[in-house]
Amino acid sequence: MRRAVCPGSYDPVTNGHLDIVERAAGLYDEVVIAVLINKTKSGLFTVDERIELLREVVAPLPNVRVDSWHGLLVDYCRNNDIRVIVKGLRAVSDFDYELQMAQMNHQLSSVETLFMPTSPLWSFLSSSLVKDVAANGGDVSHLVPGSVHQQLSRKFAR
Ligand code: PNS
Repeated sequence: MRRAVCPGSYDPVTNGHLDIVERAAGLYDEVVIAVLINKTKSGLFTVDERIELLREVVAPLPNVRVDSWHGLLVDYCRNNDIRVIVKGLRAVSDFDYELQMAQMNHQLSSVETLFMPTSPLWSFLSSSLVKDVAANGGDVSHLVPGSVHQQLSRKFAR
């Protein structure tokens, strides 16, 4: 089975993430969305909340599942027989760090990284910006799935 992982913080999932996951799901037999837990970074959403939102939005995609992991991504890949990491690239500014991580991951375990250009519709989009706009009362309803929008409104209710 050809299996790939789409790793990230997903705090929270955006339409940009979904674009990459949907396109990866068209290329691989199974795609695992891995929510990487970073104990030094406190998010707006708990890991359980992120997973619940992700499961809800990818429910229509039969070959996509959601998991979480604390530790190195390459160890997750090894434990789950995954040889490909799929990452979205929004702009050249993403490239430097993504290239470094891809090379490090390859050296650590020979896992491959496939870079997928983000749709131009979402090339400006990040979870951080979504949170900033929502926190300050801006409309993000066109940038995130409906359930995420609801949760953001609840968290930032004035
Ligand atoms: O959504 P993000 O925060 O940009 O995702 C970054 C993430 C979680 C994919 C990256 O930080 C990661 O892979 N973390 C897991 C720990 C790890 O493997 N570190 C070494 C990277 S070379």
